[in-house]
Amino acid sequence: MTFPVIGVIGGGQLARMMAGPAVELGLELRVLAEGPDVSAVAAVAHAVVGDYRDLQTVRDFAAGVDVVTFDHEHVPGELLEQLVAEGVSVRPAPAALRHAQDKLVMRRAVEELGLPNPRWRAVRDAEGVEAFAAEVGWPVVLKTPRGGYDGKGVLVLRDAAALTGARAWFSGGELLVEQFVPFSRELSVLVARRPSGESRTWPVVESIQVDSVCDEVIAPAPDLPEATVAAVTAAALQLADRLGVTGVMAVELFETPGTGAGYLVNELAMRPHNSGHWTMDGSLTSQFEQHLRAVLDLPLGATDPLARHAVMKNVLGGPNTDIYAAYPLGLSSGPSAKVHFYGKDVRPGRKIGHVNALAAPGESLDAVRARATRVAATLRDGTGSPSPDQQ
Ligand SMILES: Nc1ncnc2c1ncn2[C@@H]1O[C@H](COP(=O)(O)OP(=O)(O)OP(=O)(O)O)[C@@H](O)[C@H]1O
Ligand SMILES: [Mg+2]
Repeated sequence: MTFPVIGVIGGGQLARMMAGPAVELGLELRVLAEGPDVSAVAAVAHAVVGDYRDLQTVRDFAAGVDVVTFDHEHVPGELLEQLVAEGVSVRPAPAALRHAQDKLVMRRAVEELGLPNPRWRAVRDAEGVEAFAAEVGWPVVLKTPRGGYDGKGVLVLRDAAALTGARAWFSGGELLVEQFVPFSRELSVLVARRPSGESRTWPVVESIQVDSVCDEVIAPAPDLPEATVAAVTAAALQLADRLGVTGVMAVELFETPGTGAGYLVNELAMRPHNSGHWTMDGSLTSQFEQHLRAVLDLPLGATDPLARHAVMKNVLGGPNTDIYAAYPLGLSSGPSAKVHFYGKDVRPGRKIGHVNALAAPGESLDAVRARATRVAATLRDGTGSPSPDQQ
């Protein structure tokens, strides 16, 4: 048997969701997990617990696998460069990954490629923010370049007075400040690229954030002008190619109709992404399978959508702490919705699962959204209507 072993650094739900397609393709997936109880550990045959910031730990993990990839973007770049120098296959390579690790690096690259950025600046102090805001107008958005997620590391400053509450932010090095973009919607486009150059995208989606956390994704983004679809898809392919991405990359975007290109780049993620969870049930090849294919430099799968509309609704931790107890009610209230649970303990606001629903022939988008939302709410709350929907 010559089947390769893929090592994933990080044991969150993204690593966990790679396990299904790995089994289907006969691949072995191993995980370097943050602790014995993280999401992916129960889903793979081989998990090691260790610190991904420790060179020797990651080196030992890499020694047992054919290719190293990621569940998150927090592994230090210098550590990865060292592994590459020692001959480890790291995918995406550290030189590409840094554009998803550091928002200042990303902004500079987007600019160099001639793609549309919001107005932005690297600043070191409150005076720098004030000077920037004097040019672009309040509010502005202050961001830590590294380590942010789910809106942590993002601060909207309404006016100069709000800066006094942000003094602690200036204790480190450079920060990113951006104009506050009055976007109509947030969009995302997902692309997968393999080292030999083949790339494939999925339909452009709309992602709806609540309190800076992804709540719902609609695929494709409803009524998105063809020109915007073409422009953002081309931008994703260009970024993947020019940055030398291997695996799945999500390009988060702001839709800005009637101005410039009609969109602005928000940020990049180089791994499967929440805005692509709908592909597990809504596309011929899911983002998780595609990521595995891409990091092994295998031919990529077709990404055709399987329905006119697909909706993904996140399940965030809420009042119900016994998710399985809500399964009879949740599953009966939506027999054609697909429930994905990450095996995590319930904590308020924590991403613990998601629900996918596909439009039946003739079914409206509103009806699909309602179905996905009902099942997700039933699992979150532990209460709901037991009556099955029509699909
Ligand atoms: N310049 C901006 N103008 C307006 N809103 C913004 C801006 N930048 C960020 N936001 C809002 O804040 C959210 C989080 O910002 P961003 O994606 O940069 O941070 P993050 O914490 O890294 O996010 P993620 O959860 O995707 O990892 C965005 O999805 C958007 O809703
Ligand atoms: Mg984001």
